[in-house]
Formats: sequence, structure tokens, C-alpha cells
Amino acid sequence: MRVLSGIQPSGALHLGNYFAMMKRMIEYQQNHELFCFIVNLHALTTVTDASLLKKQTVEAACDFLALGIDPDRSVFYVQSDVPEVTELTWLLSNVTSMGLLERGHSYKDKIAKGLSPNHGLFAYPVLMAADILLYGANRVPVGKDQMQHLEMTRDIAIRFNQTYGETFVVPEADIAEEVALVPGLDGQKMSKSYGNAIDIFSTYAELKKRVMSIVTDATPVEQPKNPDACNLFAIYSLFLNPQQKAALRERYLQPGLKYGEVKKELLETIWKYFEPFRDKREQLLSHPDRVFEILQAGAEKARQVGRPYLELARERVGIAYRSQGSDPWARSRI
Ligand code: ADP
Ligand code: TRP
Repeated sequence: MRVLSGIQPSGALHLGNYFAMMKRMIEYQQNHELFCFIVNLHALTTVTDASLLKKQTVEAACDFLALGIDPDRSVFYVQSDVPEVTELTWLLSNVTSMGLLERGHSYKDKIAKGLSPNHGLFAYPVLMAADILLYGANRVPVGKDQMQHLEMTRDIAIRFNQTYGETFVVPEADIAEEVALVPGLDGQKMSKSYGNAIDIFSTYAELKKRVMSIVTDATPVEQPKNPDACNLFAIYSLFLNPQQKAALRERYLQPGLKYGEVKKELLETIWKYFEPFRDKREQLLSHPDRVFEILQAGAEKARQVGRPYLELARERVGIAYRSQGSDPWARSRI
């Protein structure tokens, strides 16, 4: 089975990214063929500062490598190092209806949040479909917010196959229920762009500031609290096994629980959890040439897998015009 997913270098990576996607990808690499990439072309839809985009691309790569992506066991690369993906995007655009893209929640949300409705933002799901279909991926681990994009990818693949003949694998979204939607400090979806994220790698002081500002309700200390309506409980649960989670729930249901104390415990838990990866990340960040080599080798592997799919698609639509089957003179000579 081929497992594939990507992440935007549009800001520091956070707990939502880690639990919904990165951690699961790292686990998949043990037993499956894994394609993991940094989607810098997608990030162009929101990041307009070139040096920031470069920096964040390298940082995202270092984060993944530090957390356990093994470039010998997986195909790890940067999206723009595989030019085949942009050509495939154009081929797919011609089987993508306006209606499909107009129904995009993510597009509508971004416009509502004040982004200018340009073509890149509108066509974002077609580029994402190309990212997936280029490699014949079967499964795509993502958070719940990407569900609709995966449905669009499936629609586009099916439409292409119906129009031109069987070409692409129709992939499936792979969403883990417990981590499908990680809340941020304010209870909304944790996101790089909402200013409500807890980053995987930040200084202790920054982490403390973030954790201490998790919004909780005003239930007095002496009253029992509701864990199911508590953002702090949801974030803490990411780090707990079922017994530990049951014990925390019990503490919520008893009078006397202080949110401030739970926050302090959570702060230490997060800091310790990512401790083993911090040194490795620092080393990688200080040897960017080594990271560039890894990414270049990854892109080469990705292109080897992607090229035959693109060649087949070129043939199917008729732009591989020099090949035998589509020679117009051959047909008129018969
Ligand atoms: P962001 O919204 O922070 O910019 P991305 O769009 O780059 O994150 O998402 C990268 C991956 O992380 C995707 O698979 C996405 O579904 C997942 N993801 C992002 N935020 C969350 C969240 N709060 N809860 C669950 N999954 C998330
Ligand atoms: N749209 C995805 C996100 O914002 C990122 C992405 C781009 C992606 N191409 C992909 C995810 C291909 C999975 C597969 O999170």
C-alpha cells in the first residue's frame, strides 16, 4: 500500500499537525511505502515573503526528519522539486468543474477571513489532486479539515478515468477519529494561521506562555468540571493513554481541580514529550546542506515514480502527439 501526505510550510508546525498527520506518517513508514512532502507551492497561496517561505520550508523538513521520518525508508521531498506535478495539475484542470471548486469549504473560509480570491487559492484542490494522483497513492493520512479536498481528488480521478480511460488510482482519506480535529488555545481548530497554536518546537518560555493561555471556563475551584467541554482536557488527552485519560477525567469530576495546576502538568508533559527530538532538530538546522541533499535525493525518487503516471496521462489526453497511437496521418492512410 502506498501512503502519501503533505504539509504546508506556512508557519511553525503544531500539535494538530503532529497528532493528525506527522506522527501517523512516521508510524506508517515502518510497514508501508511512504511519500511525505512539504507543499511549498500550496503555501504560495498565503505566504508572500520569499525568504520566510524558504526558511519555513527548511524548518518543516528539519522538523519531520528530527521527529523520525527516515529518508532511506520513505520518499521525502519538497513539492516544487517535482515539476511533473504542475503539468499534471493542468491536465486535471480540464476535468475539474467550476461547481466542484466553488463548493470548497477551505476556499470559502479563506475568502471570509480576508484573503483575496485569486486563482491559486481557487485551484488549490486541483494541485493537491495532482500531488496525490501523480504517485498512485492509495491512502492519504490527514486531519478532518482535509476531508473535502480528498473527496475532490477522488472526483477528479474518477472523471479523468471515465473521460480518457483507466489512468489514476482513486485514493482514500485516512482520518483517525481521536485526533481528527485538535482544538487550539481558544477552542477553534488549531491552525498555523489562527494564532491559536501550540508549536511542537518552541522555547520553554514560549511554550509556557501558550499553555497558560489555553482558554478554560469560569467554574469555581470547589465545583466539579466538565471534561467533555474543556479545551485543556482535549489537548492534554493527546498525550495520555486510556488509563491516564480516565484518571484525569475523574479529577475533573471531583471538586477542587485547579485549571492552573493542570496547565502546569501539561506544560511539563509537552516539554518532555518532544525533548528527545530537540537536539537532532538543532543539528539538522545547523547543517542545511545535508538536508538539501536528502531532499534532492527524495525528489529524484519521487520523480521516478511520478513520471510514468504523467506519461500515461499525456498519452491519454493526446499531447504525447509523436507517439504511434495518436499519429493523425497514420489514421488517414488506413
Ligand atoms: P494549518 O491549518 O495549521 O495550516 P495544514 O493545512 O498545513 O495546517 O495541515 C497539515 C495537516 O495537519 C493536514 O493533514 C491537516 O488536516 C492537519 N491538521 C492541521 N490542523 C489540524 C487540527 N487542528 N486538527 C487536526 N488536524 C489538523
Ligand atoms: N491541503 C493540505 C493541507 O493544507 C496540504 C496538502 C497539499 C496535501 N497536497 C497534499 C495533503 C496532498 C495530503 C496530500 O493540509
